[in-house]
Amino acid sequence: MTVATLNQTSLQEKVTQLKEKKNAVILAHYYQEPEIQEVADFIGDSLELAKKAAQTSADIIVFAGVHFMAETAKILNPSKKVLLPDLKAGCSLADSCPPDAFRELKKRYPDHVVVTYINCSAEIKTLSDIVCTSSNAERIINSIPQDKPIIFAPDKNLGKYLMEKTGRKMLLWDGACIVHEAFSLDKLLELYKEHPSAQIIAHPESETHILKVANYVGSTSGMLNYVKSSEKDTFIVATEAGILHQMQKDVPWKTLIPAPAKEDNTCACSECAFMKMNTLQKLYNCLEKEDLEIILSQDLMEKALVPIERMLKLS
Ligand code: 13P
Ligand code: SF4
Repeated sequence: MTVATLNQTSLQEKVTQLKEKKNAVILAHYYQEPEIQEVADFIGDSLELAKKAAQTSADIIVFAGVHFMAETAKILNPSKKVLLPDLKAGCSLADSCPPDAFRELKKRYPDHVVVTYINCSAEIKTLSDIVCTSSNAERIINSIPQDKPIIFAPDKNLGKYLMEKTGRKMLLWDGACIVHEAFSLDKLLELYKEHPSAQIIAHPESETHILKVANYVGSTSGMLNYVKSSEKDTFIVATEAGILHQMQKDVPWKTLIPAPAKEDNTCACSECAFMKMNTLQKLYNCLEKEDLEIILSQDLMEKALVPIERMLKLS
């Protein structure tokens, strides 16, 4: 064992002891560093993590993910301490939808039902009728009466995909995820030529041309389950590279190839710089000091809870 892995192991042990002592739970997204995923009590996609946050009896939730995810956990648990190892861990998609501009859009279309993807700020959630995630978005859209026009925000790629799937025309906010927009179709097709028996699987935040060539489109958990249950043995994975850790653990005998990014000639993978702001050391520090806490006003939490609860009821 190298010194680095030894230190890592002892830090992981310290995190485990501390979380037991403090009755804390660690919820981690699949895009987190492997050493964080290894100490987590639960790893999941956005919907599963929100559900776990709603059910936990722990006193402290350490959310190893990005800000909007930790905010959702706080909204679901206003009396609990929710910690984020790095409070600057944001999301390009959430940032692409500023509340003032969104309020203006809503004013222009007062008869529209507002559906927002969970990757948005708590303030945007207060302006929403219902929230959705990548794993329940189709069901949420289908739950809205056919005669009701819809605003969908902030992800235009997921929005376009949903329009195609549900046959509903929606007014789309022009937002996107920098990681999922980075995949190159040309390089993906070149890679596919080298692996003609591979299945292409993609997250719906990817651009339409990537989704069109995918054999499967779904949330991070959906992609994981697809790889586990498929009879195929080779997959080209178009989402953030962090998911490969859990995927490879689940199916060590299968070949998983990260989809190539446009600008990237070196590692052929895409990483979310926001997700990767969290480190094991930062996680330990925040649990020890209990200082990097998500603080939201009571009023904001009460208003943002309404569209989240509507989603959970339908999920
Ligand atoms: P999932 O809900 O599919 O895990 O997606 C979260 C996310 O941020 C994807 O970029
Ligand atoms: Fe946001 Fe994209 Fe990172 Fe997901 S991968 S957290 S959508 S920036």
